Amino acid sequence: MLFETVVSGGCRSYLIGCEETCAAALIDPELSQIDRYLALAARDGLRIKYLVDTHTHADHFSGTQQLARQLNVPVVMHGFSPAPFVDLRLQSGELLVVGKLRLQAMHTPGHTRDSMCLTVQDRVFTGDTLLIGGTGRTDLPSGDASALHDSLFNNVLKLDPATLVFPAHEYKGRSHTTIGQELAGNPRLQQRDRGAFIEMMQNLNLTMPTHITEALRTNMTGGKTVAQMLAEAAAAVPFMSLAELRAAVESDKCDFIVLDVRERDAFQEGHIQGAQHLPRGQLELRVNQELPDPTRRILVYCEFGRVSTLATATLRQMGFRGAVALDGGMKAWREAGYPVIPGAN
Ligand SMILES: [Fe+2]
Repeated sequence: MLFETVVSGGCRSYLIGCEETCAAALIDPELSQIDRYLALAARDGLRIKYLVDTHTHADHFSGTQQLARQLNVPVVMHGFSPAPFVDLRLQSGELLVVGKLRLQAMHTPGHTRDSMCLTVQDRVFTGDTLLIGGTGRTDLPSGDASALHDSLFNNVLKLDPATLVFPAHEYKGRSHTTIGQELAGNPRLQQRDRGAFIEMMQNLNLTMPTHITEALRTNMTGGKTVAQMLAEAAAAVPFMSLAELRAAVESDKCDFIVLDVRERDAFQEGHIQGAQHLPRGQLELRVNQELPDPTRRILVYCEFGRVSTLATATLRQMGFRGAVALDGGMKAWREAGYPVIPGAN
């Protein structure tokens, strides 16, 4: 068995491969680490056959959907996963055949309704059901402390005590543990009575993960993250530097339209000399009146450089092949001490 752990902050992903056949499965991949997984698989001579999420993650962006598109292989989750892009929905006891390896699914609801653990040979991937010295939380959407109690005490913890445990999260740098070690030393597992366990889980008072809304939105629906939207727009447009724009504006030979896509108040408070105002929210509907010549070069700016990137991508989609985004925004322009013109135009 070939085995790689990828650590990214507190998150863990696992690449598990069959030496004989070069087939591999990737468990809990993160969007930001996609190039690393592919590089590791290539280095080890592995071909990824399955992309597995142990559950709907609320704390990071899953990389399964994008990798599935790139590699043309199925996304695997438990049958209760709400994500529409899942190709293979496993039930408890079902196997994934990865060359000579067999990954067996065990439905372990509690952290989420769609949580599953996967056993293979001497180890179990526990997702967020069982962590080293902890358990997954049960206060996020579809969490259920009573179900977690069942999943742990009637299923996961009944595995051979020598079974190696590889969780989806680890914050103290430990690589793995065993079922026996967790039974003996995990503080959350010392409360074996169901009622007491539920009460303990309901009184942990944990802070919400950052990006929870966006992570759930994208992981449950297959939609794009804001960062993906911006990266896609940025990849499709050219940029102009602040200094270049300043030089053009001050030369009195500015041969392009400078377009401010902020709201009216921001424009009136101060804009770049000669700028034309067309708020992002009205761009598509007013573009024909405001920008009648599609061949003109148009420099687009906003406050921070993000909305202008999206607006420039939209303009280029609409045929304005000369649309360019400012690298930076009005904030950076002001901070650079460049001239700001107040009032309407
Ligand atoms: Fe989780």
